[in-house]
Amino acid sequence: MAKEYNIAIMGATGAVGEIMRDILEERNFPVKDIKFLASERSKGKKMKFKGREFPVEVLTPESFKGIDIVLASAGASISKEYAKYILNAKALLIDNSSAFRMEQDVPLVVPEINPEDCRWNKGIIANPNCTTIIMLVPLKPIHDVAKIKRIICSSYQAASGAGAKAMAELEQQARDWAAGREIKVEKFPYQLLFNLIPHIDVFMDGGYTKEEIKVIKETQKIMHSSEMKVTATTVRVPVLRAHSESVNIETEKKLTADEVRKILSNAPGVTVEDDPQNKKYPMPLFVSGKDNVYVGRIREDSSCEKGINLWIVGDQLRKGAALNAVQIAEIVHKEGLK
Ligand SMILES: NC(=O)c1ccc[n+]([C@@H]2O[C@H](COP(=O)([O-])OP(=O)(O)OC[C@H]3O[C@@H](n4cnc5c(N)ncnc54)[C@H](OP(=O)(O)O)[C@@H]3O)[C@@H](O)[C@H]2O)c1
Repeated sequence: MAKEYNIAIMGATGAVGEIMRDILEERNFPVKDIKFLASERSKGKKMKFKGREFPVEVLTPESFKGIDIVLASAGASISKEYAKYILNAKALLIDNSSAFRMEQDVPLVVPEINPEDCRWNKGIIANPNCTTIIMLVPLKPIHDVAKIKRIICSSYQAASGAGAKAMAELEQQARDWAAGREIKVEKFPYQLLFNLIPHIDVFMDGGYTKEEIKVIKETQKIMHSSEMKVTATTVRVPVLRAHSESVNIETEKKLTADEVRKILSNAPGVTVEDDPQNKKYPMPLFVSGKDNVYVGRIREDSSCEKGINLWIVGDQLRKGAALNAVQIAEIVHKEGLK
């Protein structure tokens, strides 16, 4: 009989956790049993899976007995605290947080790019940062043909990238503005409605934010290319869902815009939407809920001989987090790694 898995979703009630549940169901992942774990705050809540209702359980060190795979999205500090219990229970941890991404003995995997890295896991496989995943799905096939030397990324990141409460805050700000009420700010450093905030995560040495450093370092690890030059400016925008990125690349071999369009038309996980004359280009409102990463505005960089500009949009809750994690679980299943 084909293998079926006992799954635990850690952080099940959050923005990513709920979508992991949906995607396991949509893609018919072989689930034998499933457990929904969250904090004390979710005590008494129920979650549905394949027509059955399950209680949300409060996370404890004993939560992992009999579990084969833990899909984690309860934040980096919780992943760090609970990894030892997960490993003791002989379960595989597929982690959406930043806790282990840069550890040398933890593979950092985007299934369209480096699925083979799953094979050397020692009990933890890390899911990359959402902005990094969305950028690299279309860049890898270009790199394979023309070798990318340098990447300049400017991101336009949705409120839900900061979690379910952050998305609710933007919606509340819109309601309060429309009703003439005072606008409240809790999750973001400033009001996000009618604004842009060039500050995601904390500031580090050199003036970069931690989010920007993640894009740089994680790209080099996933692409197995420590010499690849990457820089990023990450910005929070008043969009509810799906991240957009303006990406400029410089390649070793010259590519025309048509050649890039052709490469991307055949790339796994990518949809080319690039017909500006007919107002066709990707936008976060319409990419929300989609699995593929959408690419448009493909053009040669008039300031750089081997430069290309791309506009990349992806649903960061799906491909940037939940879908990527479930795809990793699918590789684990297909290759008998668990
Ligand atoms: N949002 C994104 O687009 C995105 C993309 C990629 C990666 N990630 C990463 O995924 C993780 C989750 O993000 P999210 O956006 O889903 O956050 P979220 O909406 O705030 O959800 C957090 C989840 O973690 C649970 N949790 C928090 N503290 C806990 C504790 N002490 N014990 C047990 N459970 C606890 C919450 O449970 P309660 O409901 O009970 O509080 C909730 O289920 C983060 O590490 C984030 O960086 C997020």
